[in-house]
Amino acid sequence: MSAAKIDKERFEIRDLKPTIGTALYTTMEELLSGNIAEQIRGLLQKRIVVVFPKLNPTDGQQTVVAGTIGTVQYDGADAILKITIELNANGTIPPDIFAPTRYWHIDNATSGLPAMAGILTARRVSSVGGQTEFANLYAAYEALPDADKQLVAGLRAVHSFETFQRCAKPDPTVAELTFWQSMKPRALPMVWTHGDGRKSLFIGSTASHVEGMEPEEGRMLLCRLQEWATQDQFIYRHEWTVGDMLIWNNTGAMHRAIPYPQDSGRLMSRSGIAGEEVFD
Ligand SMILES: [Fe+2]
Repeated sequence: MSAAKIDKERFEIRDLKPTIGTALYTTMEELLSGNIAEQIRGLLQKRIVVVFPKLNPTDGQQTVVAGTIGTVQYDGADAILKITIELNANGTIPPDIFAPTRYWHIDNATSGLPAMAGILTARRVSSVGGQTEFANLYAAYEALPDADKQLVAGLRAVHSFETFQRCAKPDPTVAELTFWQSMKPRALPMVWTHGDGRKSLFIGSTASHVEGMEPEEGRMLLCRLQEWATQDQFIYRHEWTVGDMLIWNNTGAMHRAIPYPQDSGRLMSRSGIAGEEVFD
């Protein structure tokens, strides 16, 4: 752990792990004003995860903060998505939809414009499990042996909503499978070369196979890269305290929720910040 002060007038930061995760301490007023939005964007690029311990924004304040950092994504009509797996607790959204989030993934992987960032605030936490883990896919790529960098350079993996949903439910109904397949699979490069020239891996549980490879060979490559990218030095696990707000760079990270009981009461307010880089 190292302590650092960038602008003590406005905020202080402390790195949580050497390659990923920074805690940022500031006032609600500074965040809402957008005065430090550029610094937060910079931290998301370098540190992937920025935690605001016990900031406890209201949903409205969280939406304002999201809007200072980028363009707020609207899931349906609301800027805030309530994440809970309790039965009948989230309006028309069936809790099943969140079941695969226990597996490593990139949000909106098949959209062609993955979310730039996500924001979570813990409203209620689980006493067992429920942590969120993030894996730095920039650092994982940069640390790959040269032979693997060359191997993945021109390869595309096929990602789909169906593949992701099947992780949690291998025996869907026809209605479920019809819904899953309404979102088309997409073959995406396994390396994302970003606008600034930096590269990150693009993998996760949305990927089923690698184009041009024997199925087993492709699945082994995906498995090997995921095992590589989720080594301890590349990941940050957040232990939630009520009121913690956390922003992560969705274009350079996979994330997952550690399983927790359905009746744990865990409730998160989630915002999305729209993608700014086309990826296809
Ligand atoms: Fe997610």
